[in-house]
Amino acid sequence: MKKLFIALVCLFPLVAYAAGGGHNEHIVKLPASPKDTVSLQNGAKLFVNYCMGCHGMKYMRYERLATDLGIPVDVAQQYLNFTTDKPGDTMENSMVEAESKKWFGNAPPDLSLEARLRSSDWVYSYLIGFYKDESRPYGYNNHVFPSVGMPHVMADMEASMSKEDFHKNMADLTNFLGYAAEPVRLERERIGVYVLLFLFILFWPAYFMKKEYWKDVH
Ligand code: HEC
Repeated sequence: MKKLFIALVCLFPLVAYAAGGGHNEHIVKLPASPKDTVSLQNGAKLFVNYCMGCHGMKYMRYERLATDLGIPVDVAQQYLNFTTDKPGDTMENSMVEAESKKWFGNAPPDLSLEARLRSSDWVYSYLIGFYKDESRPYGYNNHVFPSVGMPHVMADMEASMSKEDFHKNMADLTNFLGYAAEPVRLERERIGVYVLLFLFILFWPAYFMKKEYWKDVH
């Protein structure tokens, strides 16, 4: 009886997770690597062209983006910045929240931290998850965000290319949002490897010193 009780307590979080609808069959893994600079550059290009009209990135600066993605700052100013913002400015837009609420039902949220809030897999699945639904005001609904207020702004792009190419572009775009949500990620991982390496090397002198100090005690 006691064992059964313990087993039930252990399983409870799983049961709660299942009941909470945490699983959505439309959520798939993001097929892109944060180390792929070309993918990130394509994602940045797509973001400023297709998303920034409505969404800003208040924690991201043009200059930082250019430096991290290996784009010369003047090139970034020309091709990624369509405003009068200086390179050191944050990537905000000027959409008025009250107005956009009227147009879409909800204001477009800032996307700086979106990939951390929802996860990259969620964002990717959302971007490839739009489908035709005439009952919606803009003619589209979404598999992972039912009744979403955002119009399917990539509809023309999706219709103009193969499914593989469209998915590739959405993966690049999501990859870029993942980078923006944590620009130091690659550096953090690189430093982590050095720290582990250092601890591994330090282990040996420490181990032999301990052996030396304790050899007469036994
Ligand atoms: C025409 C304006 C518009 C454009 C352009 C647009 N969005 Fe949106 N987006 C919205 C609105 C409005 C919402 C909020 C929808 C809601 O809450 O019902 C939204 C929501 C989202 C969400 C979900 C936010 C959440 O609640 O977690 C994501 C992710 C997103 N947009 C990504 C993008 C990306 C990526 C692009 C560029 C391809 C883009 N959007 C372009 C208007 C827009």
